[in-house]
Amino acid sequence: MKISVIGCGYLGAVHAATLASMGHTVVGIDVDPGKVAQLARGAAPFHEPGLDELLEHGRATGRLRFSTDPADAGDAQVHFLCVGTPQDKTSDAADLSFLVSAAAALLPHLAAGAVVVGKSTVPVGTVGMLQDVLAARPDVLLGWNPEFLRQGTAVKDSLVPDRLVYGVDGGRAAAFHPATGAPLGVTAALDGVYEPLLAAGIPRLVCNFATAELIKSAANAYLATKVSFINAVGGLCDAAGADVTELSEAMGLDPRIGGRYLHAGLGFGGGCLPKDIRSFRTQAATLGVPAVEDWMRLVDAVNLGQRERTVRLAAELCGGALAGRSITVLGASFKPDTDDIRDSPALDVADRLAAAGAHVTVTDPKAVNLAWRRYPRLRFESSAARALQDAELVLLLTEWDEYRQLCPASAGQQVRRRVVLDARNVLDAAAWQEQGWVVRGLGTAAGALAAAAH
Ligand SMILES: NC(=O)c1ccc[n+]([C@@H]2O[C@H](COP(=O)([O-])OP(=O)(O)OC[C@H]3O[C@@H](n4cnc5c(N)ncnc54)[C@H](O)[C@@H]3O)[C@@H](O)[C@H]2O)c1
Repeated sequence: MKISVIGCGYLGAVHAATLASMGHTVVGIDVDPGKVAQLARGAAPFHEPGLDELLEHGRATGRLRFSTDPADAGDAQVHFLCVGTPQDKTSDAADLSFLVSAAAALLPHLAAGAVVVGKSTVPVGTVGMLQDVLAARPDVLLGWNPEFLRQGTAVKDSLVPDRLVYGVDGGRAAAFHPATGAPLGVTAALDGVYEPLLAAGIPRLVCNFATAELIKSAANAYLATKVSFINAVGGLCDAAGADVTELSEAMGLDPRIGGRYLHAGLGFGGGCLPKDIRSFRTQAATLGVPAVEDWMRLVDAVNLGQRERTVRLAAELCGGALAGRSITVLGASFKPDTDDIRDSPALDVADRLAAAGAHVTVTDPKAVNLAWRRYPRLRFESSAARALQDAELVLLLTEWDEYRQLCPASAGQQVRRRVVLDARNVLDAAAWQEQGWVVRGLGTAAGALAAAAH
């Protein structure tokens, strides 16, 4: 099929490359000429494992190209809208202006009977708004196909998704055919797009627009709830002399609960979860559902509280005052295996430490080049070994494998004081303590007290 992907960021670039790898002819459209030029060369403009190979394959087969001109999408049968829906600058709601302008720019170029499918994460009611934008073209059908990929494993998630969700308007008869462009209707068109995935048995759910719009937000709200739940329990563990890592491991072995997203630590950030739970809260407020509204407010507050808690613990480990202390922060991206620093908890904490007068050096395997320009108060080093030099306190804030596997003996040679705050609870505390390190985590005060007693 001929397909266009409008918006080629973390979601759209992966989606376009994946569709080309399935045999479709794909054009990716983005307003950012730098991004388009890089993608056209077969190189990802951000760090995403496996994406370079997929882009290069698309380029070599001639099935994948990129452009800044929406007219180049004109001959596509299916258009996927993948532009950003960030948090509004003045409220907690989602900013839908990029979606509206993308749809408006596409409108004059749409072929007769084309299908426009949204993939961005949106509040309920967005499809109705886009129907208004496309009202001049009643022959064009709209669908919603929310995306669940995770940065860091986005290529795998796109090639083998857990499920496909189609939001469709059951009442409207459909796209393609007249003599015989094949599929009829949004469901049939999307089945054509995802034919290899469906053949491989990936579950596909068809629902109305409101359900499709809410599924993604509800899924993210649930994941955020799990993270904030275990972090709140971590506070309880600290107060009670328990260890949250042992507690969550035991809880997670119950298949009704499951261990994923049940790991206590610094909490979530990034370009999706924080803005999605705020948008979800705003939708609940608008729709008059206070239980969801209050719930999301609490989840958000617990999550942000972990950052404050980490700063307080760092001050405690520095003897009460941060001013003038040399602190090394391991990790800048919002999570491992991506260079994305949008709402990064690590950089937020690092910046607060610097605001309190600490000399903060940050390192990260991939995100230093993006971060240094935006955080003028912080010093950046590209290698952990250099960043650790003369540190009085080390904070592990993003759990890259490289930091999980740091050797406590050699790290100990570089620092001035062997004190580490493992805000992701991933280090082998006993191995570090054996090398003379004081190790603290979040929700693991019991372990620290036991070590101190020996
Ligand atoms: N990043 C993820 O892991 C992920 C996963 C699932 C869903 N989502 C959702 O996907 C959407 C996009 O997220 P992202 O992380 O890819 O954002 P992003 O900021 O990385 O990408 C958005 C892209 O859209 C482009 N753009 C903006 N206006 C445009 C227009 N009028 N025409 C063409 N291109 C335009 C931007 O230049 C940018 O490259 C959001 O709604 C997000 O919530 C993201």
